[in-house]
Amino acid sequence: MSLSEQQPALTFEHVSKLYETAESEARSVLDDLSFRVETGRTVAIVGRSGSGKSTLLNLASGIDVPTTGEVSLFGQTLSALSDEARTLLRRDRVGLIFQFFHLIQHLSVRDNIALPAMISDEKPKAFDNRVDRLLDRVGLLDRAGDPVQKLSGGEMQRVAICRALLMDPKLLLADEPTGNLDDENGDRVMELMLSLAREEGMTLVYVTHSREFAELADDVWEIHGGRIEHSVKRTAQSGTAKP
Ligand SMILES: Nc1ncnc2c1ncn2[C@@H]1O[C@H](COP(=O)(O)OP(=O)(O)OP(=O)(O)O)[C@@H](O)[C@H]1O
Ligand SMILES: [Mg+2]
Repeated sequence: MSLSEQQPALTFEHVSKLYETAESEARSVLDDLSFRVETGRTVAIVGRSGSGKSTLLNLASGIDVPTTGEVSLFGQTLSALSDEARTLLRRDRVGLIFQFFHLIQHLSVRDNIALPAMISDEKPKAFDNRVDRLLDRVGLLDRAGDPVQKLSGGEMQRVAICRALLMDPKLLLADEPTGNLDDENGDRVMELMLSLAREEGMTLVYVTHSREFAELADDVWEIHGGRIEHSVKRTAQSGTAKP
């Protein structure tokens, strides 16, 4: 599969999403969204609860499909791919981070991180060095053998970041990665995610409820009434952004 780095990492073209409801009338969540995320950008998505932020990320990763319109990753239109090709594209190119970490509690830190290699046909052993390097980077190398259930929430999210980065994705999608963390751990996880994305030249799209965290991104977009709009960063006026 040839994928051009010159293509935008993510493109939505006239994407709408309706959910069927019990009352037969479909609920429109996203309405004719068109936007693109250029390779290497960091984008924060904000919006009220229920505005469609998770829906947007699920469409971006191909976990869910739009009702109408097209989603493309690195120039590949997802609907034009077979299920298998779409799964491979997601596995090889996209890292996912969730609010509730989605780790396997009884498995060790190391095995959780190596999981994407274990469930693919890759040889997990070949990833040992990468797992060590990632654990070292997030400050958890000494916890590699511990079961995940012994970790704090902030530590679990750092493990989840390592797992998302294992296959060296070009696009990282994070749905409220700090939503379940206290301020101090939230700060640390956000700083880590942004610096890793920038160090590795990844494109990062993350959902957040925190205006402060949103303003650390290159761009802030707000979902409102099914549409998406650029939200003006307050950095210049308020000076609240971190250096
Ligand atoms: N599978 C589904 N079936 C029906 N309705 C759904 C489904 N998934 C989401 N919705 C509805 O779509 C709307 C958007 O949901 P979504 O989870 O994308 O919101 P969100 O912006 O992520 O909210 P939050 O900030 O609370 O996480 C909500 O009204 C939700 O109830
Ligand atoms: Mg959500």
